[in-house]
Amino acid sequence: MNAEEELQRTIAALVRPDRGILAADESLPTIGKRFAAVGVDNTEENRRAYRALMFTTEGIGEYLNGVILFEETLDQTADDGTPLPVVLARQGVVPGVKVDKGKGPLPGAPGDQVTYGLDGLAERLAQYREKGARFAKWREVYPVSERNPTPLGIEANAEMLARYAAVCQAEGFVPIVEPEVLIDGDHSLERCAEVSEAVLHAVFHALHRHRVVLEYLILKPSMIVPGRDHPRKATPEEVAEATVRVLRRTVPAAVPSVNFLSGGQGPEEATANLNAMNAGFPGQPWALSFSFARAIQEPVMVAWAGRARNVEAARRAFRHRLRMNAAARRGEYRPGLEGGG
Ligand code: 13P
Repeated sequence: MNAEEELQRTIAALVRPDRGILAADESLPTIGKRFAAVGVDNTEENRRAYRALMFTTEGIGEYLNGVILFEETLDQTADDGTPLPVVLARQGVVPGVKVDKGKGPLPGAPGDQVTYGLDGLAERLAQYREKGARFAKWREVYPVSERNPTPLGIEANAEMLARYAAVCQAEGFVPIVEPEVLIDGDHSLERCAEVSEAVLHAVFHALHRHRVVLEYLILKPSMIVPGRDHPRKATPEEVAEATVRVLRRTVPAAVPSVNFLSGGQGPEEATANLNAMNAGFPGQPWALSFSFARAIQEPVMVAWAGRARNVEAARRAFRHRLRMNAAARRGEYRPGLEGGG
């Protein structure tokens, strides 16, 4: 198969209707924070056991097209010795991998950040392919303040996303392009919309400059929401209206799917917001789906708490959250469904 055929095959699998993507690609420090919140030690065995319990949950292929893995997970196995990427493939779920290497300050742009990891990326992708990965993810973050993101921050981050996406496509990997406008701060929904519009505009301009084929990528943006410390929370209808408006202004129709991150929203909140988009604004040029990490995994981790005897309860929590988000993908979610266990 050449790179183009691979891209066609992978994107078709990642955009199947009624499903989304699970982000399970927390880096070592991030999974450490999530584990600490439920009293679990951040050991390699705990990370393996936890991710194995999710991936071996029966029937997840009904709700998921893909799972984004952390590099380490590509080499780990389920309790019966099956490699975890093989476990996913047997469920009909495409394994992907986070390929960025974290972030740090962007010199010249005080307050802004930039992500590392382009060096040797093509060679790393070849290794990840051997281990079963077929798509990739790269995240740039945009802190919001009166000054941030700066024009330089917006340009530099767009350039990184586009260079990453171009390398991926050359290697036959579908890139998930993730520009995350952070929820931290007390800014308004309107300020988030203004920043997000500038960010997405720059990202697609850079993708165009780098000859990235829009038909073979997935956009993973943040929803348009007020900052966490803003005095008033927005309703799902307000979030949906603002988010769809910004996307329509900036995301070309050639992009097949927009899979949102949850970015610190609660599980039911993220589901309700996604639902409001699909229920209130059907018929958009792109699918509107999910690629949540925290908003899917939080209840799973709480139910598990590192104990083997809780594995079945954790699987029930996982399946439930997936079912709710698949309903939101169709615009058929109601908070009343949450009681359904
Ligand atoms: P959240 O859904 O927790 O924001 O995570 C998505 C993700 O992959 C961040 O890179």
